[in-house]
Amino acid sequence: MNTKELLKSLTREEKIGQMLQIAPFFFVKHAHVEVAGHLKALNLTKKQIFEAGSVLGIGNGHEMIEVQEVFLKESRHKIPLLFMADIIHGYETIFPVPLGLASSFNPKLAKKVARISALEAATSGIHVTFSPMADLSRDPRWGRVVESFGEDPYLNGQFSSAMVQGYQGDDLKQENNLASCVKHYAAYGKSEAGRDYNTVDLSRLSLHYDHMEGYRKAIEAGARLIMTSFNVVDGIPSTVNKYLLRDVLRDLWHFTGVTITDYDSLHQVIAHGVAEDDLQAALRGIDAGLDIEMASTCYVNYLSELVDQGLVDETLIDDACLRILDLKEELGLFDNPYKHAHPERATQIVRSKEHLDSARKVAHESIVLLENRQVLPLKSGTKVALVGPYATNRETNGPWSWHGNNALNANLQEALNHDLEIIYINSSEVISDYQTDDFNVIEDADVVLYACGETIHESGEAHNRAKIALPRDQENLYHVLKKHAKKIVTIIFAGRPLILNELTSSDALVYAWFPGSEGAYALSDLLLGRMNPSGKLPMSFPRHEGQIPLYYNHLNTGRPYDPTHRNPFTSYYLDVPNTPLYPFGYGLSYTSFELGSSMLSSNHMSLNETVELKVQIKNTGMMRGQEVVQLYIRDHFAWIARPIKELKAFQKVMLEPGEEVTLTFNIDKTMLGYYTQDGLFVVEPGHFDLMIGTDSDHLTTHKLTLKKE
Ligand code: NOJ
Repeated sequence: MNTKELLKSLTREEKIGQMLQIAPFFFVKHAHVEVAGHLKALNLTKKQIFEAGSVLGIGNGHEMIEVQEVFLKESRHKIPLLFMADIIHGYETIFPVPLGLASSFNPKLAKKVARISALEAATSGIHVTFSPMADLSRDPRWGRVVESFGEDPYLNGQFSSAMVQGYQGDDLKQENNLASCVKHYAAYGKSEAGRDYNTVDLSRLSLHYDHMEGYRKAIEAGARLIMTSFNVVDGIPSTVNKYLLRDVLRDLWHFTGVTITDYDSLHQVIAHGVAEDDLQAALRGIDAGLDIEMASTCYVNYLSELVDQGLVDETLIDDACLRILDLKEELGLFDNPYKHAHPERATQIVRSKEHLDSARKVAHESIVLLENRQVLPLKSGTKVALVGPYATNRETNGPWSWHGNNALNANLQEALNHDLEIIYINSSEVISDYQTDDFNVIEDADVVLYACGETIHESGEAHNRAKIALPRDQENLYHVLKKHAKKIVTIIFAGRPLILNELTSSDALVYAWFPGSEGAYALSDLLLGRMNPSGKLPMSFPRHEGQIPLYYNHLNTGRPYDPTHRNPFTSYYLDVPNTPLYPFGYGLSYTSFELGSSMLSSNHMSLNETVELKVQIKNTGMMRGQEVVQLYIRDHFAWIARPIKELKAFQKVMLEPGEEVTLTFNIDKTMLGYYTQDGLFVVEPGHFDLMIGTDSDHLTTHKLTLKKE
């Protein structure tokens, strides 16, 4: 299809229509409702509805076909609708939540997750997924940390890029490839006080240095769309922020794809106080370079009027419309408007054994072992008492899994039943529900498995918490169980890092996040030692809410705290240590690994050289397992202050007992430079530390000098 010619054949209203996204129930009354809210109240005329360009959310392939048919029959121009949806960590086969996925430190897995998600979601006629969420997240009070890849720009960039590659494949025209829409541009994760939709106020330097990396890497990987965030940046809502949408996105990054608002976020600029009404909102949006308006009607009601008034140049509308038409063409919708909708194929592949097996494998690598005092893995014949809400709760999918069905998941009781003697089950989370008799059985057990945590409604969009300890009565229940148990293994399901101080006295502490469809089976594999845990934390775990934001890659300050030389006038708290309870990159295994000597090929390099850092790693324990070797750098002196350490590379290796390998890290200038406040990458000569280890807190240092040319 020649999209430029097509554009010429459209009326102005039709072009503006392409820029509107509404829900399927506008076309077919009985259609699936995913997110409705404000959408329901939109007062659109039939003409406006049948000029719309895209759809948000769809139930299944039959429904997509029906909606597209109705639309194509009624619309004058017959331009197929584009179907977009939130496929975040799986379609019906649900994988661990993104924060759990990041704990795998295995971007190849993320690519696989995205590929399987695309294969399944495509059968329902979805063309675009609103994923990955690349918002750097350093505040565990924020409910949406669950959707993020955590606190580190590099890790975030690696996972965001891998997800895009997995969804999109090599050619969007091919069946089963989805276009990826990275979100929420920009710096949504910086919402003040961890409250969703709240103000974001950050320096340009931190914007480019820390927060942009995820979006940048997703775009470099080819993401075709980008969604704006609900927050302001420099006082201007991202949705109408010219600096973000034109200066950075188009001019600096050369992004040629489509920009889209978040839900109703163009209309919300009125509440932000930067437009008086929908007309002004439309003016600011088009001026800023915003293409699609999701779930509000500023464009569709006012853009044409703005052109008539001479306030908007129609070429801006043409440009936006052409980008949308080009995306439809690239996806092959003009050849086949029903592309991807395959209800029959869905019955074969959706939630297939193969996909569920993959979900189980991903969960193995996502779960993090935080403590283990020789209790795990459980020996066969162990008498177990299984207690706590997640003993029988099947809700392991976590937030943002619209098409996933928790009822189909096994719970822990079922998953463990095959292999263990479970002598007692109590799924209460409240001590008052336990009787004296209950404690007799608990005392009788060799090990108490306490499966507790947050519900699926305690994290996710708009689900923020100011207090992030284990909620309700569950911490008290832990203390009571601990008193009666010979040994206690605490298993936590959660969408964020929780404050775990009290629970560290568990004989073993397992952090499961929300592990997805096969989470209970994956946990049983780990608890019983059929698999060895290898997850590492993608966020620092605080000791107290007062430490937040707490992240490992902070600046040194002019008065850094030194625990070995206590000086009262340094940067510290009187009542809580500076350090996290568990650091970034931390996680245990059932086996032990020893990092042997490491060697740097040279302590000097010039700008266009590379040096090699070689490190030996040996599995010194009794079980096959994976370890993540992490490389951090520190630039001691630069024009701007730089973090005390920054992750720059990692390698995950599987080793048999006794096996030893040498890993090589190539160090080049891309690891040593930084982004300035203008978003430019610069490298300064000087002295660097290269630090290698298996978490961000236990590192061996090498010195490297980057010479002046
Ligand atoms: C609002 C959320 O912020 C965004 O992540 C999501 O993609 C849209 N709604 C569409 O559902």
